[in-house]
Amino acid sequence: MMNDLQLPGLFSLIAYNSIDSTNEEAKRLAETGAAHGTLVWAQSQEQGHGRRGRSWVSDPGNLYCSFILKPDRPVHEASQLSFVLAVSVAKTIDKQFQNQNIANHVQCKWPNDVLIGGKKASGILLEMIPRNNHDQASIVAGIGVNIEHFPTNTEFQATSLKAEGLSDVSTESFLEMLCDQFSRWYAIWLTEGFQTIRQAWLDKAFGFGETATVRLATETYSGVFETLDPQGSLILNDHGNRRHIAAGDVYFDPSVRQIAD
Ligand code: BTN
Repeated sequence: MMNDLQLPGLFSLIAYNSIDSTNEEAKRLAETGAAHGTLVWAQSQEQGHGRRGRSWVSDPGNLYCSFILKPDRPVHEASQLSFVLAVSVAKTIDKQFQNQNIANHVQCKWPNDVLIGGKKASGILLEMIPRNNHDQASIVAGIGVNIEHFPTNTEFQATSLKAEGLSDVSTESFLEMLCDQFSRWYAIWLTEGFQTIRQAWLDKAFGFGETATVRLATETYSGVFETLDPQGSLILNDHGNRRHIAAGDVYFDPSVRQIAD
């Protein structure tokens, strides 16, 4: 398969036609000491998975890749990387629309989805490999982008770049552009910290100012999506009572939804 992509020096690519899951392969590689910047990419996955153990349909035509990252930052800041990646994916999709002169509405949905016109086009899955005797902790950041096709039987409505009018986007060119964006936003994260990433993410936030419902393990909570806190938790305001949500699935009431173009 083609793997002579033009990638920034940070990345070292390992390409497969098919694999169980790029995240699983990246975790195996990380456990045996793979370097920061290792990038696993596959044309298809047999056991692609998403957050909360959901499966991720992974037929050829879409992008499936995982980065191994070892940032020189405290472990508790690792979750910020999902925002760095979401912004990078959103900017990459924006650029594809610009290149083809098509108006679009690309947004980031908390915690780590990217939407086009309110429908999910990309998901990000961060997994941590704890430090061991030989090596520091690694973060495996898996990204799926619906380029050619999208699943139809999902809880949250999905779409693909093709369905939104973007023709002739190859997984190769998307991955090259994504790596350019990611190396840029990753450097911004390292030099300027989470604040700049948080603002870039908020500028594209889906459902900002609207009522959201979050399903937690033991309860369901509703409130107005006010902002992100400095750690990236969602702040929901329920009649003046603010709650910081660190993890969960968030739903917006379609009856109050208004997308401003
Ligand atoms: C989600 O929205 O639940 C996250 C989906 C993450 C899917 C990607 S595809 C590449 C990588 N390999 C996997 O098995 N999952 C991630």
